Amino acid sequence: MESSSSSCKKTLLLLILVHFMMPVSAARPLATDTNTQFIKTSCAITTYPELCFSTLSSYASKIQRKPQLLAKAALSEALKTARSTSSMMSKLSKSQGLGAGDAEALNDCVEELKDSLDELQCSIGEMGKQGHNFRVKLSNIQTWLSAALTDEDTCMDGFEGNSMNGSIKYSVWGYIVNDAHMISNALALINNYASTQSLLHA
Ligand SMILES: *[C@@H]1O[C@H](CO)[C@@H](O)[C@H](O)[C@H]1NC(C)=O
Repeated sequence: MESSSSSCKKTLLLLILVHFMMPVSAARPLATDTNTQFIKTSCAITTYPELCFSTLSSYASKIQRKPQLLAKAALSEALKTARSTSSMMSKLSKSQGLGAGDAEALNDCVEELKDSLDELQCSIGEMGKQGHNFRVKLSNIQTWLSAALTDEDTCMDGFEGNSMNGSIKYSVWGYIVNDAHMISNALALINNYASTQSLLHA
């Protein structure tokens, strides 16, 4: 894996565009909510609330109704999922007897998923940085996560066409969709965290 300083800068040009594309809406839990309810309420603003809740609820006591900790946990879970997809894809790409088209698509996926992992790693690094301007931090993370989603998409695009092996395609699709949903949820929770920061509106 590349070091974050070199690889984390490559997609910054998308920054402004992405900033305006992302809706910012806050989940506003009541003070009486339990930690678990906080996760449920927050997950409700994501596109895949059940996946969100099932992957994050076990961290409820650590997250303690803090949108920042929830966003961090969502990012770590997205990275974990993407890592396991990435290693599965590496294995699959080395299978015997692959058709030429499938072999090529799988090899491309291995590269694209590596980029996706780097971008997730960059986002986690940025999240943990102290003293960075919040707006810049947020834009960087939004940019990297969007790039990570694009990489997942590009992997799937490689399997278009009738000559592809359906069972390989279907299996890849399952992993990629799961990755993409995890990343999408992390992005939503980061936007939610951002909306709780008065800095953003100053
Ligand atoms: C598709 O791939 C699977 C798993 O590698 C293999 O078992 C199957 O024989 C392949 N089917 C065709 C039609 O090539």
